[in-house]
Amino acid sequence: MRIGIIGAGQLGQMLGFSARDLGVECVYLDPSDQPPAAACGDVIRRPFDDPAALAELAATCDVVTFEFENVPVEALHRIENDVAVYPPASALQHSQDRLAEKQLFERLGIPLPGYRVVDARADIEAAVDALGLPVVIKTRRLGYDGKGQFVIRDRTDIDKAWQAIGGSALIAEQWVPFDYEVSCIGARNVDGEIAIYPLSHNVHEGGILRTSRSPVDAPVLADTAERYVRTMLEHLDYVGTLALELFVCGEKLLANEFAPRVHNSGHWSIEGSKTSQFENHLRAILNRPLGSTDSVGHAGMVNLIGGIPAVARNIGDTYVHDYGKSPRPGRKLGHITLIRDTASERDELLDSLHRNVTQSSV
Ligand SMILES: Nc1ncnc2c1ncn2[C@@H]1O[C@H](COP(=O)(O)OP(=O)(O)O)[C@@H](O)[C@H]1O
Ligand SMILES: [Mg+2]
Repeated sequence: MRIGIIGAGQLGQMLGFSARDLGVECVYLDPSDQPPAAACGDVIRRPFDDPAALAELAATCDVVTFEFENVPVEALHRIENDVAVYPPASALQHSQDRLAEKQLFERLGIPLPGYRVVDARADIEAAVDALGLPVVIKTRRLGYDGKGQFVIRDRTDIDKAWQAIGGSALIAEQWVPFDYEVSCIGARNVDGEIAIYPLSHNVHEGGILRTSRSPVDAPVLADTAERYVRTMLEHLDYVGTLALELFVCGEKLLANEFAPRVHNSGHWSIEGSKTSQFENHLRAILNRPLGSTDSVGHAGMVNLIGGIPAVARNIGDTYVHDYGKSPRPGRKLGHITLIRDTASERDELLDSLHRNVTQSSV
């Protein structure tokens, strides 16, 4: 079995490590120098939409998948008649445009924050009138790790927001005073079998994920999130792993965004679940029975951003994942996972690790 993966970043690398365990070979398409997934398979160093490279993947692989969201949808359309391509291009298309994504949530009856489309500066004024302050303006496309966003706290910020990101297609979103953020990750195989992971509680700072912990002791929320993810998987005729990010407001969940791929907030599943999100993605696209998503303890994950300080490697009974990337401020270079018998032991260590790592990083 041979899988073609478009993108060779850390998600591709972790898919590759899982594939190795399953006896499956991976080949990647990525133009960058020394991508992390080069550790796991050959990399065709061509642009993501290179016709000859895509044709090579289609001709030599049993199935093609992708590990990041900005793969041109046309690249998938180009090969989908020649080879199975999962997740489906329609899921990718919805996730690439925040407006299409929100309209999908609305069609599926999944609650979401109030929003308005912004095409001109006057639309921001109208959105502030309609939604109240604060609002966050986001580019509809190509945002990640909080990039392409501007929070308007009072009306004098409107000009600043327009100067910063005006000109791109935008949306305005009500700023949600959430209690905390969660994500729900699910997988569906070609036959339609579905497996859902326990909720993950995620903390972002400056728009970047810092920590995740799972499971979350909130059964009603977990049931609701599971229902939303099942609805999405079925409606999209989805194959592979999908992550839905949600804001928790009391007993209510509001959908923030979804990713049609394995997700940073599920990295703890490598050691914290009977079957990781990476293995279940592979099982799903290979149409194998999905593995159990049961937890094997209380898992915590800290992202290593900008640098990997010595303290990260010097704490016993943790799992350090170094993606092998060169350091740069704000760049995700690795993560640490820890598993403990109780939530309180996990939280205590996770919080101190997060503090130490943040203080020592660039
Ligand atoms: N409407 C909002 N209300 C409150 N916080 C928000 C809102 N939108 C984004 N955020 C914060 O910023 C983070 C990143 O925003 P998100 O829309 O998920 O973009 P990205 O694609 O960069 O992950 C969120 O996880 C959350 O912490
Ligand atoms: Mg996000």
